[in-house]
Amino acid sequence: MTAPDTSRISPTAHYTSYVWYRNGLSHPALATTTGSLFYAGMGLVDRASAACGGPRIEPMLLCRHHLIDRVLERAIESGEIGQVVEVAAGLSGRGVRLTRRHEHLRFVEGDLPGMSAQKRERLERAGLSSPRHHVVPMNALADLGEHALAQVVDDILEPDVGTAIVTEGLTPYFDPGIVGQMWRRFVRVLSGYRAGLYLGDLYTRDTIGQVPGSRLALLSMSAFTRGSVHLHFDDAKDAAEAARAAGFERWTIHDRSGVADLDLGRGAGLARVLEAWVTSRAANPRPDSAGTP
Ligand SMILES: C[S@@+](CC[C@H](N)C(=O)[O-])C[C@H]1O[C@@H](n2cnc3c(N)ncnc32)[C@H](O)[C@@H]1O
Repeated sequence: MTAPDTSRISPTAHYTSYVWYRNGLSHPALATTTGSLFYAGMGLVDRASAACGGPRIEPMLLCRHHLIDRVLERAIESGEIGQVVEVAAGLSGRGVRLTRRHEHLRFVEGDLPGMSAQKRERLERAGLSSPRHHVVPMNALADLGEHALAQVVDDILEPDVGTAIVTEGLTPYFDPGIVGQMWRRFVRVLSGYRAGLYLGDLYTRDTIGQVPGSRLALLSMSAFTRGSVHLHFDDAKDAAEAARAAGFERWTIHDRSGVADLDLGRGAGLARVLEAWVTSRAANPRPDSAGTP
């Protein structure tokens, strides 16, 4: 079955990469003119929301980005994780930052072909390429074919090294059924490595309901991407149950308390991050690209 075309989401990567750049989390080579225009436009929405006592999107984005970084860096520093696959990495600076900071880390960034080609070109032009940093075409929704996750990473990663998959800003654009299938796909792939960690942002109805004006923020993101932005879970317990159903074995759901030392502002409380682990099936054969063992 052909994966659906989700390229309508790609322009959002220009906006988020500009947010990372503006906040010292990325390189100027990954900041685009399109991103600066989106940033100015979303800044107006953010200021209007704040003036009415509502949340701002930028603190929410920064909260999830820092939470993912912190959990990931702890796992790298403890030696559990030595390889990272960021699915739908867009123009994020995480791959550049972490491969510079951790000298043995291997980092694979996947995105739809147009976006990954653009990123590779930008990194090459700025002299930021590294043999440990792979920027490749990948479709998060494909089980088969050259862009399927299992197929792409099989050529690059070592099975005896702990591996993390990261998604940031991707799941809200997919309905709950698609997210469940994608998480199960991640579990199958991760179980082929010495240790497997998944990190991804998530949003719950209880927090969104508690922060006045946050539905407006969701509507503005839906308008931006010309499609629905989904709220998948009632609360953290519901999200944990979905992680269990997908096949993860241990999980923690992080919230802004994990970055309480950062002064992020109103809106940060909307973001949560799922940290979910699978145990290696090293004794079993690696799954093939269709996901069947
Ligand atoms: C909101 S952006 C997030 C980019 C990056 N993770 C960040 O936080 O800056 C969403 C990204 O998802 C990518 N994307 C959309 N559909 C995808 C798919 N089916 N497979 C892989 N990437 C996809 C888009 O091209 C875009 O780069």
